[in-house]
Amino acid sequence: MSDSIRSRRVQYETAGLDVDDVYGDPMLQWQRWHDDAFEAGVAEPNAMTLSTIGLDGGPDSRIVLARGADERGFAFYTNYSGAKSRQLEAKPVASAVFGWLDLHRQVRVRGTVERVSGKESDDYFATRPRSSQLGAWASPQSEVIADRSVLEARVAAVEAEFGTDDDGETVARPGFWGGWRLVPTEWEFWQGRPSRLHDRLRYTRSDGAWQIDRLAP
Ligand SMILES: Cc1cc2nc3c(=O)[nH]c(=O)nc-3n(C[C@H](O)[C@H](O)[C@H](O)COP(=O)(O)O)c2cc1C
Repeated sequence: MSDSIRSRRVQYETAGLDVDDVYGDPMLQWQRWHDDAFEAGVAEPNAMTLSTIGLDGGPDSRIVLARGADERGFAFYTNYSGAKSRQLEAKPVASAVFGWLDLHRQVRVRGTVERVSGKESDDYFATRPRSSQLGAWASPQSEVIADRSVLEARVAAVEAEFGTDDDGETVARPGFWGGWRLVPTEWEFWQGRPSRLHDRLRYTRSDGAWQIDRLAP
């Protein structure tokens, strides 16, 4: 097992990435790469590894799904009482990585983080399947629970309140659940190339415009 991790090597025979090939707006470039990943059948192409600064000062990472990607940044949804939200309240900065390994591509984003509006969270919550809406009510995200029966009992209590049927009462968004937006200040697009001479293009904000630099791999 460890031998294969040491020796397994994939050559990245891809077309490459040049400043002339990319959009001046990094979000447009992200959307193009996301669409490529979707069309290539990459599982969950909107999944990003989100890193925050832990309350102990150390880094902390987990995967979340980007549910909005527009000129304002990346929106994701979670429990506002959970660990990542408490970390973001204390230090509203984050980084995210999209890894589209089948395409030998990676996008890194760094930026500031803010809550999305209550209306935006309501609108997104309303699009979720009822079972996910009830799950949001039931789960005390990031808290220690004795065993799975605790969760099942909480789901049963929420189902008793709202009903399980789609024709039942509309499930309101819990006040402790909603969206955050990662507002990018820096991006990097990475394209794997042969002989580990990969292409890296970094976007930084300078005088209100995005500047693009090539980085050594
Ligand atoms: C593919 C995938 C998608 C996920 N999407 C989300 C998400 O959108 N929101 C969320 O809160 N957790 C999501 N999770 C779970 C998180 O990785 C994490 O376990 C959870 O948010 C608790 O993190 P925290 O304790 O650091 O707050 C996802 C996990 C995976 C593997």
